[in-house]
Formats: sequence, structure tokens, C-alpha cells
Amino acid sequence: MKAPLIAPSLLSADFGRLAEEIKDLEFIGADWLHCDIMDGIFVPNISFGLPVLEAIRRYTKLPLDVHLMIQRPEDYIERFAQAGADLLTFHWEATFHHDRLIQEIHRLGKKAGIAINPATPVEVLIDILPEVDLVCVMSVNPGFGGQRFISYVKQKVQRLSDLRYKVGSRALIEVDGGITPETAVLVPQADVLVAGHSLMHAQDRKAVLRQLKQSHP
Ligand code: DX5
Ligand code: ZN
Repeated sequence: MKAPLIAPSLLSADFGRLAEEIKDLEFIGADWLHCDIMDGIFVPNISFGLPVLEAIRRYTKLPLDVHLMIQRPEDYIERFAQAGADLLTFHWEATFHHDRLIQEIHRLGKKAGIAINPATPVEVLIDILPEVDLVCVMSVNPGFGGQRFISYVKQKVQRLSDLRYKVGSRALIEVDGGITPETAVLVPQADVLVAGHSLMHAQDRKAVLRQLKQSHP
């Protein structure tokens, strides 16, 4: 099995030293930077928005994996694309016109992802799966870092992997929430692992990143 890409979540970074944090993540070998955007409506928390994303873009060439936890993502997608996102992931539950929004993201020259909450079944994606570049399977209820991995998500990731095969989709499977070296082994089908608390607050970030990389033997 291929080693997963590791996308540290900047939500758990020290925002007062963001530039240094980004350099450190580049140094330890992060593949992508996961940027969690929260509006206080779709999720019960507010994180950061466009100006901070623009600043992050100036500090790094790493791909920016932008996870929009916002209501009506279609109203903001163009500005997030301009701010420097490489991949724009919106929530299935936050909008109605999924196909239109995916087309719009592609028209803007970006990769398109759909995220699903823990209680949303992967089967809702059956028809759209060939059109998306990534599916983000939430393994915690979105809104906060440092929560525990929800165990039934393991079965969802397996089913999504089967579904992807069945419909001939090349979408990457990303798992987001509560990922540690111990929980990463539960989702061997994941192509991308988001790691917030477990990596960012580790004494030795590089060691945790290596363990995550090696979690899918
Ligand atoms: C949760 C965010 C996650 C979060 C992951 O709403 O989407 O990306 O930062 O953090 P951990 O790994 O701490 O669960
Ligand atoms: Zn996220």
C-alpha cells in the first residue's frame, strides 16, 4: 500500500508564530498544509479567513488544502481560490448544488473536494464521485481540534474505497479528525491523513509524521 500524504492542520499551530510554524512543517516533510476555515454558523467555532490564508500562501509553496466549514460555500469560493487555495473542499451538508459548485471550482483552476460529516453516509456521493478530486471523511464532528476519532468512520472509509472502485473514480480519500499513529492504522484506505493535535503538539513532530507515513504497511 502507498504511504499516505500527511496534511498537518494549522488549526493547532501557534498563530502568533505562523510563519515559523509553516517553515517547521516544511522542514519535517509535510506534504500539504490543511487550512480549516470556520464561520461560526456551519460549525460552532470561528477560526480564520481570507487574509490569513493569503498570508499563509505568501510563506509557502506547499499545496494548501482548504477545508471550508462554512454555510453557503458558493458565495466565497472565488475569493478563497484567489487567496491561494490549491484544493477547495466544501461540506456536502452546507449547500445544495454540489455539481454546480464542483464545476465552478474546476473553472477557477482548482482541485475540488467534498467533505462529509460523521453521520452522512458515503453513499450520497455515488453519482458525484467521478467528478471530484477528493473526499474528506470527517472522523470527528467538525469545529474543533483535539477530539477523539469516531470508530464507525473506519467502516465508512472502507465503503467509500469500495464505492470509488465500483464507479471508477480517482478521488483521493482524506480522513480528518482525531488522527494519531494509533488511529491512522484503522483507515488503511486513506490517501491523505490530516493531523492536528497529535502532530502539532508533539515533542517530536518529525517522529509523529514518520509514524503516520508508516501507518499503512
Ligand atoms: C476539525 C477540523 C480538523 C482538525 C483536526 O473541525 O476539520 O481539520 O483541525 O484536528 P485533530 O487532528 O486535532 O482532530
Ligand atoms: Zn479539517
